[in-house]
Amino acid sequence: MDVNSRSRARRLIATIQDLERESTAKFTFKLEGISRDGFVALFDGEVVAYENLCRHIPLTIDYGDNRFFTTDARHFVCQTHGAIYEPLSGLCVRGPCEGASLRKLEIAVSEGKIFLLEETNEIRG
Ligand code: FES
Repeated sequence: MDVNSRSRARRLIATIQDLERESTAKFTFKLEGISRDGFVALFDGEVVAYENLCRHIPLTIDYGDNRFFTTDARHFVCQTHGAIYEPLSGLCVRGPCEGASLRKLEIAVSEGKIFLLEETNEIRG
């Protein structure tokens, strides 16, 4: 009998060294068969990853230039209409989508490497 089970694949998306240099790094991932943009950020010593999609209008938060932080580096800012997001929770605290949250992505950090945890479907016979 076939058994469907879900397992997690780990994919390297950045290193801590990358984030110490640039604060954020971009990557792509697939969800529901669709390729999407993501970004990973280092903030207050924590690493977080989100889908790079504003909650106001489905546009990327950056302009493709890997700029996500406000000038004081305390929040993420959408470059289009200025929505302000808390880095650790992804919650929009000011702007047109206040109260909505970025889609958080699951990651694992091991020996300075940051991995995206992706769900895969496995069929076992
Ligand atoms: S598209 Fe991000 S604030 Fe409007």
